[in-house]
Amino acid sequence: MSENEPLGIIGVGWVGLVSAVCFAELGHPIKAVDIDAEKVALLREGSTPIHEPRLDELLERNRDRILFTTEISEALEAARLLFCCVDTPPTYSGDADLSRVREVVANLRGDGEHALVMKSTVPVGTGASIVRGLAGLPYVSCPEFLKEGSAIDDFMNPDRVVIGAATDDAWAADAVAAAYAPLGAALVRTDVASAEMVKLASNAFLATKISFINEIANVSEEVGADVAEVARGMGLDERIGAAFLRPGIGFGGSCFPKDISALKLLAGNSGYHFQLLNAVIEVNELQKRRVIGKLTKHLGSLAGKRVALLGLAFKPDTDDMREASSLVLAARLEGEGASVSGYDPVAAATAAELLPGVELADTVEAALEGADAAVLVTEWPEFAHLDWALLGAKMANPLLVDGRNFLDPDVLRAAGFAYEGIGRPAAALGDAEPIGTADRGT
Ligand code: UGA
Repeated sequence: MSENEPLGIIGVGWVGLVSAVCFAELGHPIKAVDIDAEKVALLREGSTPIHEPRLDELLERNRDRILFTTEISEALEAARLLFCCVDTPPTYSGDADLSRVREVVANLRGDGEHALVMKSTVPVGTGASIVRGLAGLPYVSCPEFLKEGSAIDDFMNPDRVVIGAATDDAWAADAVAAAYAPLGAALVRTDVASAEMVKLASNAFLATKISFINEIANVSEEVGADVAEVARGMGLDERIGAAFLRPGIGFGGSCFPKDISALKLLAGNSGYHFQLLNAVIEVNELQKRRVIGKLTKHLGSLAGKRVALLGLAFKPDTDDMREASSLVLAARLEGEGASVSGYDPVAAATAAELLPGVELADTVEAALEGADAAVLVTEWPEFAHLDWALLGAKMANPLLVDGRNFLDPDVLRAAGFAYEGIGRPAAALGDAEPIGTADRGT
């Protein structure tokens, strides 16, 4: 196979677009297909529809190598490997919606000339079911592990590349392995079902780590331990590892909540009750709501109070708000009778659609004006360098709940704030000056 084998990418969402620009950067001519004509037109002009570091730069540099089109036939003509990157959102039942995957398959013939390379996250058994429906279709499961916000770096420096295929489809698996070879990553060659399971199990395990450290944080609050110290001590054990031990107000995004629910249902449908995942999901839901308790501890009833949400995206460096903790929090606060303001450096447009009741501000300062409390929801780097004394003076009451343990409690307290973190020694009541007596002039 030539080093620069043309590749077809079907679906240019987060995974598809990042894969397209990165494979182009590695020298492959790309036919990138999407049914959304507007998105295709935008990409042809060189604009990207998502906020992702380095994406614009890579697209610009590789524009000559990538053809964006709405016609799957163009990809079929040019490439033998078709990377399926369409989304698989959750249905009402929590199962993955595979209708877009099926639409892609409907365009293929089992002529053995084209291989379908599944990068979309799908339930275990999807590959087998596709091949049953279209005999003779070479099929490779090649799950994607990139994170939004660092997607390009993750694609270019993967911890491993997982390639699952039946023995008969070895040529296709070899071709996929060759496309990834320049990245020098560990390669896991396996069967299709195991590759599908690696993806779901990895996301479920990472989510379990988060819910676990969140529970340790909650207990630490009760017993006077500092979860940051606990996580540091735990993470140095190589068997545990330091990653994904950051406590907070719950995980969100388009992947963890959906994939855990899909794995739980997959297990249930096969007759196995996956108990641990139920707890992981429940802990995550309760974690988002614990902020309310921290606010009422200081403010009493939230009715008529004003609360500012700092950061609305589900995590920094993305404008994605799918399953963001801010959505649950805003709804709970509104339910308690509070008015809610919000600020996010990049997710404002998405937030305007999803949070109609929230007064969106253009600056942190404007969001905090007259607020009785602020909640740091997303750890945007710019929040690390704010003048908290100045901002506290704008608020009706300088109380901050740091939902990501992102800020230095000493700095906040020196600036006159009552500071509440997650699993950190809690603020005593009255740490801040009581409402109405704060010196507004300085
Ligand atoms: C996740 C996985 O990390 C990727 O490997 C996977 O490819 C992707 O899902 C997917 O299935 O497509 P992503 O959803 O982009 O990636 O975001 P993460 O950085 O993993 O964060 C997920 C959530 O966990 C965020 O809400 C984040 O704030 C939260 N988190 C993460 C914590 O609360 N604590 C941590 O220690 C780490």
